[in-house]
Formats: sequence, C-alpha cells, structure tokens
Amino acid sequence: MTKITKLSFILIATLSFGFRSFAQNQGMEELIQANFDFAKEQYKVLAKNIPADKLPQNLDPKTGKIDARDIQWWCSGFYPGSLWLIYEQTKDETILREALRTLKLIEPNKTFTGNHDLGFMMFCSFGNAYRITGEQAYKDILYQSASSLATRYKPEIKAIQSWNKNKFWECPVIIDNMMNLEMLNWVSDQGGDKRYKEIAITHANTTLKNHFRPDFSSFHVIDYNPENGSVRRKATWQGAANSSAWARGQGWALYGYTLMYRDTKNKTYLKQAEGIADFILNHPNLPEDKIPYWDFDAPFMPYAERDASAGALIASALLELGQFVEGNKKQLYVKNAEQMLRSLAGDVYRSKPGENGGFLLQHSTGAFPLNSEIDRPIIYADYYFLEALKRYKDWYL
Ligand code: GLY
Repeated sequence: MTKITKLSFILIATLSFGFRSFAQNQGMEELIQANFDFAKEQYKVLAKNIPADKLPQNLDPKTGKIDARDIQWWCSGFYPGSLWLIYEQTKDETILREALRTLKLIEPNKTFTGNHDLGFMMFCSFGNAYRITGEQAYKDILYQSASSLATRYKPEIKAIQSWNKNKFWECPVIIDNMMNLEMLNWVSDQGGDKRYKEIAITHANTTLKNHFRPDFSSFHVIDYNPENGSVRRKATWQGAANSSAWARGQGWALYGYTLMYRDTKNKTYLKQAEGIADFILNHPNLPEDKIPYWDFDAPFMPYAERDASAGALIASALLELGQFVEGNKKQLYVKNAEQMLRSLAGDVYRSKPGENGGFLLQHSTGAFPLNSEIDRPIIYADYYFLEALKRYKDWYL
C-alpha cells in the first residue's frame, strides 16, 4: 500500500467504526439478499473484463488492470464456483451462461496431476454445479478429478504431496491441502472408490501430528523425507516467519478440520477445529473488525495489510463449525462470523458498484513475502464471502 492509500484505509476504517456503516445495522436477511444482488451485477462487469480463455484472479488497484490466469492456476475453480453460488440465489440467466461457459473451459483440469490443488479447482466449481443441477456429467468429472488427485498420495509420508520437489523442498505438504480432502470424501461417499476417503483421513491424521503447535496454530509447510516420511523441516512460504501464524493458513486449517469432522464424525477433528477457532478468535492481534492481518505475527501492525480472503474463509468455516456445537460456543462462532461478514459487506472492504473490475471484495493479500498480490481484490475472497452468506442464510436465518 502507498502511504496515501494506507492513510485513507485507516481513515475509512475509523469512520466506519465511528458511525457504524450501513452493513452494521442491516438485518442479516436483508444484507445477504443485497449482497447477492450486488454480486449478480458486479460479476457481469467482471465477465466483460476477462479474455475468453482465462479466469479472473486479481486486480491491480494502481493500474486498474485485471490479472486473468490460465486454467491450470490453482484458483481457476473460484470464478465458476462464485457464479454458481450467485446463480443459485438469483436465477439470473446471464450469470448461468457464464457459469456454464467457464465450467467447460476448466473441464480439462480433471486429468491434471501437477499439484495438490485439484479440490479447489474442481470441487468449488463442478461440486457446486452438481449440487445445484444434479447433472450426471458433472459427477463423472468429479470422480475423475478425485482419481487424478489421489495420484499425489505418497504412502511413505502418509499424505498427499502438495508441490513437486524443487530447489526449496523435497516433499512438501502445506496446510492448504486440507481443503482438497473434501472432494475425496465426497466422491467416496457418493459411491466412488472408498480409497479416496481413506487417503483423506490418513492425510488429515498426518497433518494433525506434524503441522500444529501446542497453541493450535499451524505451520505452513512441512517438508518430508520422501523415503521414510520423517519431517525434514517445518517452515513457511507465504507467512511472515517459519514460526508465525499465516492468517489464511489458519483459515485453511479451521475449514479443513471442520469438514473432516462433518464427513467422518471423528471427534478428534472437531476438537482440533475448536482449538483452531479459539486460537484465531482469542488472538490479541485479531483486529476489532475481525478481518485478520495477513499474518497474526505480521510486522508493522496496525499498519500491516489485511487479508479479506482469510476473513471470508474463516467466517465460512466458523458457520459450519457452529452447526456441530451448542450453547455459548455456537453463539461465539456464529456471532464472530456475522461480524466478519458485516465488515466485509461494509464500506471498507466491499467494492463500490461497477468498480474494482467487478470483483466483490478489496484488501486481500496473496503472498506478502513474495511481493505477490498485496492488498488487492482476489477471486477466492469473493468465493468464500458468497459461500459464507449462503451458509448463514441456510443455517441461521
Ligand atoms: N493455497 C494458496 C494460498 O492460500 O495462497
């Protein structure tokens, strides 16, 4: 952020809290409807701003240019997935046409085995498409995608390898990988190969053993010895330090163990998810608006950049976790998720109609240490924001 952008960000944040922005006072039903209506118009703008063979990723606020990427980028499923979530709520035919067009575009990913991200790419897109339409062809594509993802399972390390060996890592597994387990569970539970869910459970157990610190925060990357599965190194790639709590990583962990509990009913996963939620919600560096800095240990707080995507993702995960607990805990999770959604829907984070190339949310951070996607609209923030709105509507209205 430039100094001026940073100052205006702080000023707007202060004003929003001083006077409580509109999203703070709106009823949740009205807020959810208004945001899906907004998303419907905004994504028509976004659709016009991208080339036919690419998917929107982020926007550079300085130049106003959209960075659109090819189908093998790990985020290719979020745009089609967001379109399906918007279509489900609005039944808008233009949105449906764009959802169908982009599904076709990314379908070849079903045989992709180059990294672990196939769950993000295919379940957020085809998973939603199948849930909404019941179209058998989409189910077949998900079966094939699970089979491709399962090729990355390495029995020696009892986990799915995230990235291929390179000059930095021998056999890396990142906490983000927990998200890809949902597609494996789903395909097994739908009558597909039972081995996929066994892989997901084994991966979750290995991650439980090696990724977490006693306070339930997570390392980003565990580098394994591919021969015998011993841990070579506990490190980070996108966080502030090896020992820090990279915000989106904590979100992936929370979402991941919540979904593993949903799909297995194993109480160990529930306990883990609750521990992660408590780490996040009790953290002294979680700002008042509940949208995390890009790392819970980021330098230069309170001037450090935020990560709206972490806020959206954590909100969505907390809403699901709230389904599995009762009493004060449920209230705590749902109230915090609601505050996150109100912040995201308010003046500070949400784009103005027609602005930001058509993205919904501003102020996400992709990979700060790599100087990549800092303080930008990023597509996965939009996706988890929409998913969280849907979850709130389905479960708590
Ligand atoms: N899965 C990569 C990221 O969260 O940036």
